[in-house]
Amino acid sequence: MIKVSPSILASDFSKLGDEIVSIVKGGAEYIHIDVMDGMFVPNMSIGPCIISSVRKVTDAVFDTHLMITDPIRYVEDFAKAGADIITFHFESCTNHSEVIDRIHSFGKKAGISIKPATPAFVLEPLLEKIDLILIMTVEPGFGGQSFIPETLESVKIVREMIKRLGLDSKVDIEVDGGITPQTAILAKKAGANVLVAGSAIFKAEDRKAAIEAIKNNE
Ligand code: DX5
Ligand code: ZN
Repeated sequence: MIKVSPSILASDFSKLGDEIVSIVKGGAEYIHIDVMDGMFVPNMSIGPCIISSVRKVTDAVFDTHLMITDPIRYVEDFAKAGADIITFHFESCTNHSEVIDRIHSFGKKAGISIKPATPAFVLEPLLEKIDLILIMTVEPGFGGQSFIPETLESVKIVREMIKRLGLDSKVDIEVDGGITPQTAILAKKAGANVLVAGSAIFKAEDRKAAIEAIKNNE
């Protein structure tokens, strides 16, 4: 099943609760929350206290994307703030398996992400224990960038790997960055089933129509 995860990085933070409610009404399955520490990426954004505050406005799945150095330090804080899926970057630490176990210990789903230049095969040893793989389709750090077509190769490789292991229906493959109704078609063809989009949804005149187009365009 194809799911859409609007990235609130592109929303109006002065009315964040209403912005989230608008995309849930528009049919979004997940809410994508970008966490940036100014170290792993050259930008800062949202932390656990904002997440616990907007947790009150919806029961929708909080798809939390940690772009932070040494993520194990903050797993508990994000779990307690109300994150449902906690995704960290392969490049941000060396203790991948331990981070995944820690996320699972709080009853949360664990995701791992790779930047565009990181080869997909590095994920192979972790596939059996992960719930979601996030392939970045732009360099992490900022919304509003252009989709990098070469990243589709990684999506294809990961889809093949999880098929081979019989994990097709268990592991989500998510893409993030420069997703529009047009690039979504390419990502879905390559094997992605969760599509993150910030600008293409929050800047659209009709957010519901934008979510539907990203989900259903073929
Ligand atoms: C980038 C973030 C993305 C970003 C997507 O580092 O991880 O989630 O908000 O924004 P758009 O859809 O505008 O590229
Ligand atoms: Zn993201």
